[in-house]
Amino acid sequence: MPSINLTVNGKPVSVAAGGDTPLLDLLRNHLGLSGTKFGCGLEQCGCCMVLVDGQPEKSCGKALSTVSGKEITTIEGLGTPEHPHPLQQAFIDEQAGQCGYCLAGILVSAKALLDRNSSPTRREIAEALDENLCRCGSHVRIMRAVERAAAQMRQGASA
Ligand code: FES
Ligand code: FES
Repeated sequence: MPSINLTVNGKPVSVAAGGDTPLLDLLRNHLGLSGTKFGCGLEQCGCCMVLVDGQPEKSCGKALSTVSGKEITTIEGLGTPEHPHPLQQAFIDEQAGQCGYCLAGILVSAKALLDRNSSPTRREIAEALDENLCRCGSHVRIMRAVERAAAQMRQGASA
């Protein structure tokens, strides 16, 4: 079986796996990156969202063959408990979430947004998170947290 090479959170990864293996399977079951969640498995909920070359993509439906040579960023690649990304800190400060199951996907989608737009409007935030479902209904706090992170990043918090 030929190897597929990609980069995950800045580290090169080479894996001998079928090209139709879902990226989510590689992340969770082979690399131990369990922050990215399995929800519907049908590209409907967004909790498996990761960044592929900076763009949010649902990893449950992303075949490994399509990410060969690409740069993958998961929630584990955003920050650490000691040095959280401003988005992670803002979500803590706003208590943005209840069960937390959706948050890994929401945080990477929000990162992609703030990387291209440092001052998003509420509407732009809502549009950027449109494919991330939150069954707990934490939307208002989530929006506030993204606004808080954007403001902090504009003031120079490290990202
Ligand atoms: S688990 Fe991938 S979109 Fe729901
Ligand atoms: S916080 Fe529970 S699904 Fe969003």
